[in-house]
Amino acid sequence: MVPLSHPARAELDDASPFLRCLASDPIQLELGRIDPIEMWGLVATAALGRLQGPGPLRVELDRHARSVQFAHAVGLREVIEGRQPAQAAEPGRTVPLERIVRTASTERSADQISRLLAPEPDAEDTRRTLYYVLNELFRNVVQHSQDPLGGVVGAQVNRGGRNVARPLVQVAVVDCGVGIPTSLQSRHTQLTDARAALDKALWPHISSAFDEGETGSAQNAGMGLFFISEMTKLVGGRLLIASRGASLLLEADQNFDNPHGSRQFLDRGVEFPGTLVAFEMPAFEQNAYDSMIEVIRERARERTPRRAVHKWLCFDAPPTSVRRFLVRHAQVEDAEAAMGFAKSKLEPSLFRREPVALDFAGISACTQSYVHALLYEPLRMAWALKVPVYVMNAQPGVRSTLELLEHYALGG
Ligand SMILES: Nc1ncnc2c1ncn2[C@@H]1O[C@H](COP(=O)(O)OP(=O)(O)O)[C@@H](O)[C@H]1O
Ligand SMILES: [Mg+2]
Repeated sequence: MVPLSHPARAELDDASPFLRCLASDPIQLELGRIDPIEMWGLVATAALGRLQGPGPLRVELDRHARSVQFAHAVGLREVIEGRQPAQAAEPGRTVPLERIVRTASTERSADQISRLLAPEPDAEDTRRTLYYVLNELFRNVVQHSQDPLGGVVGAQVNRGGRNVARPLVQVAVVDCGVGIPTSLQSRHTQLTDARAALDKALWPHISSAFDEGETGSAQNAGMGLFFISEMTKLVGGRLLIASRGASLLLEADQNFDNPHGSRQFLDRGVEFPGTLVAFEMPAFEQNAYDSMIEVIRERARERTPRRAVHKWLCFDAPPTSVRRFLVRHAQVEDAEAAMGFAKSKLEPSLFRREPVALDFAGISACTQSYVHALLYEPLRMAWALKVPVYVMNAQPGVRSTLELLEHYALGG
């Protein structure tokens, strides 16, 4: 028996009825009664269907309805049963569903799918955007979901219905793991509310590495969801994130009047038992990828919280007991010598928690790379161990170079 509230469609415009249906127990889905169903609906169905056995999902697939044919065409049954879909991709149209195995290389799948979605030679920027989004979402499944089965991905260029004039690329990545709020709450214990946690996940520099006082590696700096949400706004797209306890829809302002677009939490109780992310962008409007990344980097800088103490160099005169090091290399540009000096002299002192004073007497200017080699590591070490670093006789050109180094070495 089909519940009265069975959803009639699954579209980003109004995702709640379908999500509500997936949250019921047991789930009874008559796919043939849902029309249209967008790709994310099928990806979510496939991900939940993998639970199998006496699992909570029952999908009716035997009606000759359009949505059931669509499901067959993208290999829903195969993915549910853990088989490789026999269906071929149709470049520029559909990419069959695929499981994201936790050990597989995320780059290869992201590359393949983005090429299939945007095969035109002049669609380079769209391809790179899709690659970025897919790769980050795959990495999140692998790194954070804790779903032993990994996730499921599906993608299409939606040219149907009202999208005939303006086709949309839609990709979705879904897992049935712990969910974003739980994952974040394990590291940010103050985030007790699921909505607050989901909101926080879209901020730059949310990662475990950052919590411990690092800026995170280049690969994993808590930037994935932040970049994806900023891209959504800049390409005129939409982003649905549904997870345990909270869901939200981010929509770009169609006239780009509001650079922050609009973000709305879906009603309380509209959630997903895992993490569902659906990203959508116009298929044929090119946005210069490189300049988009620059804009997002700038926004990240604006929104990155500064550490309470990010000034550690002290330009006042040091107490006489502090050991003085004269900074005098044959050439002030000799970065290798500077690094050797840092390793052999500065770092051992700091490691013993002995303050140091660097005397720049006689040097009127030096390059950023010299200063970087000399002080980047020692300064971070000094900050972490709370050992003072004094600077003496720094002329204005030297001082400003040192201050810039300090800004990025200790900044967020
Ligand atoms: N699929 C997922 N399952 C569980 N938690 C997730 C998932 N995706 C993201 N998260 C949570 O959201 C946080 C932010 O993700 P992201 O912006 O990609 O940064 P990063 O992956 O570098 O930590 C992650 O650190 C993780 O706690
Ligand atoms: Mg990530």
